[in-house]
Amino acid sequence: MIDRAQAERLIDGRLSVKRREHSQRVAAEAAGLARRFGAAPEAAEIAGLLHDYCRELTDAETLAAAARYGLEVGPVEARRPKKILHGPVAAAELAEAGLDADIVGAIAHHTTGGQGMTVLEKCLYLADFCEPGREFSGLDEVRALARASLDAAVAAAARISLLELIGRGHGVVPDALALYNETHAGN
Ligand SMILES: [Fe+2]
Ligand SMILES: [Fe+2]
Repeated sequence: MIDRAQAERLIDGRLSVKRREHSQRVAAEAAGLARRFGAAPEAAEIAGLLHDYCRELTDAETLAAAARYGLEVGPVEARRPKKILHGPVAAAELAEAGLDADIVGAIAHHTTGGQGMTVLEKCLYLADFCEPGREFSGLDEVRALARASLDAAVAAAARISLLELIGRGHGVVPDALALYNETHAGN
């Protein structure tokens, strides 16, 4: 069990000021979404504070941690380790430190999403996408959707993320495609 004060101490010792501020904004956004859509706001807040706990490791450190925790590293992950694996690595490390399993799951999925996400997982995914410090095209649409429908907002976020990756010529991990396919199942 890791509480809010402990989560703050963990990121204070690990992350730059800029990323701690991002994490605070994600925590507030995730707690608001959780209140709106029926997840536990305290859990969402801790998930927000800790979601980028391993974001400032190097690629080599991220791969070493992934190996240590037995995480699967596919070809796409191997090309951009810290960008794609910082969530799963943080989840594994924080699970070991006693973080609740539902929060661990949210942190594990916050970058790519995945199939069958819980409400808490969707709240963190969306909060990281929408926090007030972000600005890019399509974001206003997602923010508007997030006022009424968690699933519609997550669907739009998954589509925009995928388009962005493909537009840049990056690979797409199976979890991101699974989220896109699940949220666009009627199309
Ligand atoms: Fe992240
Ligand atoms: Fe983040």
